[in-house]
Amino acid sequence: MVIAKALPVAGIKLLEERFELDVGGLLPGREELMERVRGAAAIVPDPTVRVDGALLDYAGPQLKVIANFAVGTDNIDIDACRERGIVVTNTPDVLTNATAELALALALAAARHIVPGDALVRGGEWRGWEADQLLGLELSGSTIGIYGLGRIGRRFAELARGLSKNLIYASRKAHPDVERELGLARCGPREILERADLVSLHMPLTGETHHLIDGEALAQMKDGAVLVNTGRGELVDTAALIDALKSGRLRAAGLDVYEGEPDVPPELRELDNVVLAPHIGSATEKARNAMAELVARNVIAALRGEEPVTRVA
Ligand code: GLV
Repeated sequence: MVIAKALPVAGIKLLEERFELDVGGLLPGREELMERVRGAAAIVPDPTVRVDGALLDYAGPQLKVIANFAVGTDNIDIDACRERGIVVTNTPDVLTNATAELALALALAAARHIVPGDALVRGGEWRGWEADQLLGLELSGSTIGIYGLGRIGRRFAELARGLSKNLIYASRKAHPDVERELGLARCGPREILERADLVSLHMPLTGETHHLIDGEALAQMKDGAVLVNTGRGELVDTAALIDALKSGRLRAAGLDVYEGEPDVPPELRELDNVVLAPHIGSATEKARNAMAELVARNVIAALRGEEPVTRVA
């Protein structure tokens, strides 16, 4: 079996007892990957590795399972896997806390201008306490919008509830149980943008959600609002976001994901009202180890012909 890039030792241990492993190391190019997957029974990609019909065909008919080392599966052509009878699995639940916590960290850092504050002190230019320096948005009591109420959105809502009782969400489906439990109010996709002081994105990337937050959506957001994205970069039109941040219409943004990673446009990198994290939503030791174990358990089950723990297709 082929692990495209790397897998923490917790997963490797479980797999190496049973299978012959080919672990790719960092950044295998597409061509190298094509060569290496030939004859593999299982492939473990991660969000940076695109799995499409061509790769599946190149691997060959013995390929049984694509076990993504991630919860998002937008890097995988699920239909192509289905057509070929290949099982697809992901790593839900075990990274929920880690990712929701990062969203909260980005929300607070963006709302309170931690990045320019850090640069001021670090650069030796800070002249001491000032009454109007780096005034931010107080999240306590603010209206916090959770866009997408899957596992991570829910956990973010739970954490945000410690800051504000004014929580609203937009989601394709109604979640009356969560509404009751967390005091969340459901609203429409336009209303959440118009009402929230901070909007955090928690939906998967699909054809429907691509550029969900475009120029028009950003124009609907409140003046001085904050946007947080720990989902996928393609949920947001980056050029429109840069305009909204430059003009000050948006107070700030906290981003963990980007269109066309790892390239981040210089115009975005130059702005000091955006916090830029390097796609580390699930990057806690606990989460990554648990993800690796889950990947291994999924592979083992699928290759035994049993039902995997967390099957997507
Ligand atoms: C990471 O981006 C994931 O989807 O797990």
